[in-house]
Amino acid sequence: MLKILHVSCAALSIAGFTLRGYWMIMDDPRLRSRFTRVLPHLLDTLLLASAIGMLVIWQANPLASEWLSAKIIALLLYIVLGMVAFRFGRTRSVRIVAFAMALLTVFYIVTVAYTKSPLGMLAPALAQAATGSQSSLEQQSGRTAGAPAAQQVSPGWRSCSRGFRY
Ligand code: HEM
Repeated sequence: MLKILHVSCAALSIAGFTLRGYWMIMDDPRLRSRFTRVLPHLLDTLLLASAIGMLVIWQANPLASEWLSAKIIALLLYIVLGMVAFRFGRTRSVRIVAFAMALLTVFYIVTVAYTKSPLGMLAPALAQAATGSQSSLEQQSGRTAGAPAAQQVSPGWRSCSRGFRY
């Protein structure tokens, strides 16, 4: 339930952020409306509250987990870049670059969330590369494949009895 809330808030928050960025680039007055300025704060508060709720229920320490720590650091970066894009950026080009970097950062956060690895979108590719190099090593040494290399290279997370991976 909390996870559904978390993922829904994440989707709405990213969609809203993208729309605000588009309005910023087009110099649309809707960017300055009261609703546009208040709604993101409500969504982001719910997003964080649901994350904290999950951590409390699952008794998970975010700093003991690589992917959750990566998510927190990337979230701080996303917030700072968002502030530059919509508030403190002095020139239009600074704002646009900050907005583009914020989009990349939030994309990274989503891939970290799904892969449960601080490597984010690179994790499957690196695991694949490791599997390839391991099986070629095995071919060279004449051994058969053992445990999946992805698990040997970067476990990154463990599982608890409720299926939560940390
Ligand atoms: C912009 C910020 C964030 C976005 C876009 C985001 C996105 C997501 C997404 C898409 C999932 C679902 C992954 C899946 O189905 O496996 C997820 C799960 C989760 N997120 Fe976030 N998240 C954000 C911030 C955070 C923060 C700051 C924390 C806390 C440190 C957090 C903690 C969690 C936890 C505990 C889960 C559940 C993992 C599981 O089911 O094993 N998230 N997040």
